[in-house]
This record gives sequence, C-alpha cells and structure tokens, in this order.
Amino acid sequence: MTRIVDELLFLSRADMGEVKMEHLPVQLDLLIEDVHRQASLLGQERDIQVVLSATTSVVVLGDELRLRELFLNLLDNAVKYSRPSGTVDIALTIYQGQARVSVADHGIGIAQEDQPQIFDRFYRTDIARAHTKKGTGLGLAICTWIAESHRGQIEVQSQVGEGSTFTVMLPLVSPLA
Ligand SMILES: Nc1ncnc2c1ncn2[C@@H]1O[C@H](COP(=O)(O)OP(=O)(O)OP(=O)(O)O)[C@@H](O)[C@H]1O
Ligand SMILES: [Mg+2]
Repeated sequence: MTRIVDELLFLSRADMGEVKMEHLPVQLDLLIEDVHRQASLLGQERDIQVVLSATTSVVVLGDELRLRELFLNLLDNAVKYSRPSGTVDIALTIYQGQARVSVADHGIGIAQEDQPQIFDRFYRTDIARAHTKKGTGLGLAICTWIAESHRGQIEVQSQVGEGSTFTVMLPLVSPLA
C-alpha cells in the first residue's frame, strides 16, 4: 500500500513538473551490469535465468537513480511475467546513434490491442491478472515518464504466449572509444 501511494505521489509530482532530474553523464554499461546482477537475484526466486547478452561502453546524460528504476521496473516485469525456468535477456547496444537497451522475456506476452494501454496508469491485462495478483499497473507509467524525461522512448513488441521485448532508446552523449 505504501509503495502504491509513493508511486502515485511520484507520478502526480512529475505531472506538475515538481520532480527534479539530474542531467549528469551516466556510464550506462556499468548501470546495466549492476541492474543485471540485481535482476539475477530476483530471477533466482522463480528459477529464471537473467542473461546480459550484449553490452558496449555508452554514456548518456541523465539521472542515474531514475534510469536504474526504469530498467529495474522492466526487469521486474520480465521476471514476473515469465514462466518458471524461463530466461530473460538484457542487451545494451548502439543503434541509429542512440543507446538501445532491450529486455526480452519468453513469458505470457501481451495482446496487440492491449499494447498501447499498458503504459497507462493502473492498466493490467487480463492475462497478467490471471497469471499473478502482484502488481498495480504503475511500473510502466513510471518507466515512460523517466524515458521521456531523458528525451528517450520506450516501445514494446510482444505476442501472446511467446513473450515480450521492451526497448528503451536514449540519446547518447558520446560513444567512448
Ligand atoms: N514483460 C511483460 N510480459 C507480459 N505482460 C507485461 C509485461 N510487462 C508489462 N506487462 C503488462 O503491462 C501491465 C502494466 O505493467 P506495469 O509494470 O505498469 O504494472 P504491473 O507490473 O502490473 O504492476 P507494478 O509494476 O505497478 O507492480 C502489466 O500488468 C501486464 O499486463
Ligand atoms: Mg510492473
């Protein structure tokens, strides 16, 4: 309950432009390695293997704590909506001059008609409700706000019963040689 209230307060403060965002260089590959470690521990509870399949040295401008929250939310979903013994794959690459982080699972998936709505507050699919009671439907709304505050984007590709891939694109400061 406290978490829901905290998240709602955060989103309404964000709506009013009251949330402070840092604009500092963030070494994204180190952050991704770190969230990968955290997600691996999360995965162990459900016998889900979290794999960091690609990484590259990338610096973005932004707020490290918020970016961490963004990726942990995506990984939390990927683990939660996987089937036991599944795998989750994280990859950090540079694509079309931007940093691209993808989080892919082989879990329950999201129907085409639900895909635009899952980023709305409190929206949960029927498939997800049947799969688990855990969740309030605020995680992706927060992810969207964080991505957009970094002048980035978040997208989903998914098929029911096959799995989902969430992709975050963020502008680069500069690729390090
Ligand atoms: N990896 C995924 N696989 C399948 N469905 C997903 C996935 N990620 C998100 N969804 C769908 O999008 C909905 C919204 O996700 P969101 O993270 O906002 O909420 P939640 O996980 O249900 O709850 P919360 O994150 O607030 O604890 C989920 O309820 C689920 O229906
Ligand atoms: Mg969630």
